[in-house]
Amino acid sequence: MHPTVRKAVFPLAGHGTRFLPMTKSSPKEMLPVIDKPVVQYVVEEAVEAGIEQMVMVTGRGKRAIEDHFDISYELEDVLKKKNKHALLAELQKISNLAQILYLRQKEALGLGHAVLCAELAVGDEPFAVALGDEILDGPKSGLAQLLEAYRQLGSPLIGMQRVPLSEVSHYGIVAGTELRKGLFRVDRLVEKPRVEDAPSDFAIIGRYVLTPDVFDILKTQSPGVGGEIQLTDALNTLAERRPVYALEIAGDRFDTGDKMGFLKATVRFALKRADLSEEFRHFLRETLKRDLLPETSGEGCDADRPVSR
Ligand code: UTP
Repeated sequence: MHPTVRKAVFPLAGHGTRFLPMTKSSPKEMLPVIDKPVVQYVVEEAVEAGIEQMVMVTGRGKRAIEDHFDISYELEDVLKKKNKHALLAELQKISNLAQILYLRQKEALGLGHAVLCAELAVGDEPFAVALGDEILDGPKSGLAQLLEAYRQLGSPLIGMQRVPLSEVSHYGIVAGTELRKGLFRVDRLVEKPRVEDAPSDFAIIGRYVLTPDVFDILKTQSPGVGGEIQLTDALNTLAERRPVYALEIAGDRFDTGDKMGFLKATVRFALKRADLSEEFRHFLRETLKRDLLPETSGEGCDADRPVSR
């Protein structure tokens, strides 16, 4: 029987330069997708997977994340007085979601370094890692899919998804042997290859199940791409020492730390919301109609109707 994965590490200490100036004073993980911050989606995914303890690695300027998952007595009192019971219950649900531990990464020295910062809280047991700016929309929690495979394999696992060949140079790409559909034994991970050098079109996504031996590797690892302590480098070393697997995760992935990914997530989740979808769908349809028509021929057509109040 493999040990149960009880803890998940959320590296949340990055600078978020792709989303400046918004991220100058606010964490990108607190960007709202509709009315919930991105990081709440990720925590809910972990809760759905049965994770009991969340270890959040934060940094300067990230206090809003702690406040979000904390109890807000003042706000609860206001909602009680106004008889807004549904909202009150929703707020209480957030602060009761999970047991959360916060650690600081004093300098953003890389994703691998952020994971290493969690060692004290993780201890000597397997743990999940979920990037706090990546959300998944699928039939089942992404972390739950990884944990299910971990229960069978008992070895480190990397979440992966297919990407268009033209995009392989933006990702860490998996090279390995396919054991069954969607499951590879990893030979190596190739960071941001050119299309012609890419060993596959399977890209690493921000979900992992790791074993504590990765900490020893990270402790002595030199900086890699961008001068940062890279998690991918540590996983390559790990794969030389023991079997490491990569599992294709079902669901659509949105990198909300990227403007386009954030926009797509907003549209996707708005269309899924019963209270918003009808008007939003209408707005999108009319906006697109207007956008696709030559400027002059839009006159008098449906697209001229006001689309929102
Ligand atoms: P990103 O690659 O998105 O980097 O990190 P970033 O610095 O946050 O954002 P950009 O690229 O400048 O826009 C992937 C994840 O790893 C965390 C980030 O918070 C993000 O969730 N991270 C990255 C850390 O926690 N510490 C680091 O030193 C680097």
